[in-house]
This record gives sequence, C-alpha cells and structure tokens, in this order.
Amino acid sequence: MRFAVFASGFGSNLQVIIDAVKRKKIRAELALVVSDKKDAFALTRARKAKIKTFVLDPKSFSDRESFDREVVRNLREEKIDFVVLAGFMRILSAYFVREYPHKIINIHPALLPAFVGGHAIRDAFEHGVKMTGVTVHFVDEKVDHGAIIAQGTVEILPKDTLKTLEKKIHRLEHTLYPKAIDLLTRGKLTVKGRKVIVG
Ligand code: GRF
Repeated sequence: MRFAVFASGFGSNLQVIIDAVKRKKIRAELALVVSDKKDAFALTRARKAKIKTFVLDPKSFSDRESFDREVVRNLREEKIDFVVLAGFMRILSAYFVREYPHKIINIHPALLPAFVGGHAIRDAFEHGVKMTGVTVHFVDEKVDHGAIIAQGTVEILPKDTLKTLEKKIHRLEHTLYPKAIDLLTRGKLTVKGRKVIVG
C-alpha cells in the first residue's frame, strides 16, 4: 500500500511517520508528501528522507475544488491508496472526500467531539477541562467530524501551562498516529456508520 502525508507546518508528526516506516512499524510505503506551503519545514523533512514532494499554492486556484482536483490528479498518478493529514491547514472539499471514501485520516489535538477547530489545545486549556487528549479519525465532509479510529487522553494538572500541555499532546500524537496508520494501511479498519471496528 502506498500513502501520502499532507502537512502545512512543522511536520513533527510527519517525522515520526517517516521513522516508523523506516523501522517497519508502519508496513506501507510513504510515497508522497503534499503541502500547500512551500516553506513548510515538513518539506525539508521529506526531502531529507528522499520522499517525493508535491507543493501546490492555493492562490493559483479560483476555488477549493479546483485545488483539490489537481491534488487528486497527482495522487492518482502516484498510485496513492491512503491519505494521512498531519497538520494540513486546509479543509478538504466534498469532491476530495468522495474520491477517497474512508481512505483519508486526520489527527486532532483534542478529544472529539470536544474542541473542534484550529486552536483545540488552547481552547481546552482555557476552558479549564481536567482531561483532554488526541483523536485520530476518518475525514468526512464535515470538519473534525468523521468516524473515530483512536483516542488517547492527557490529564491537565494545576501546574500545567499551555506550553507543557502542548508538549504532552504532541508526545501522545507521536505514539498514537503511527499505530493508527499501520492499521489503516493494512486494511484492519472497518467503518460501520459512526463506529470503526479494528481487526
Ligand atoms: C498537530 O497538533 C495535529 O494534531 C494538528 O496539527 C498539528 C501538527 O503538528 N492537526 P506537526 O506539524 O505534525 O508538528
């Protein structure tokens, strides 16, 4: 199985995925890294690992779907079976999601359905919850909404700051995501309505 990782930023999740593929903890080929930001550090990581990259500037497209059509064309050309979003800061169009049904996953830094959106760690921290976490989920046509594959929890202690919480969340992401990707690419995830059956 061949998969692509989509990233717009720092790429710490991409890095652990690269390492997990090398160590055969993910038994699939990371064939492509896609980004909408030409300066993303994630691209530096990909190039260093000699993984093919594909960068597309959203400003060159009139709307979301035409951007996504170009992305999908490239995914087909590269024979990509699965798409892994890792800090990709764009919402995918319905067109894209329909082209890869139950083949696109995302990692979200909160316990969905709580704290959707782009500032989930901060929102959870400011809300004063005692427990937050990380969710790996399939991508559907609504934001941060698809069927949940895996979750892990993180306790927020009185001594925690936003910084220490961010660290804990990222540490958890880095163990949870490679495991979920391995299950996905080995065909071990079955979706029944909103439920994901593992095995
Ligand atoms: C992660 O916190 C992930 O949950 C969110 O975006 C962040 C990406 O971080 N979707 P990185 O670029 O992988 O370091």
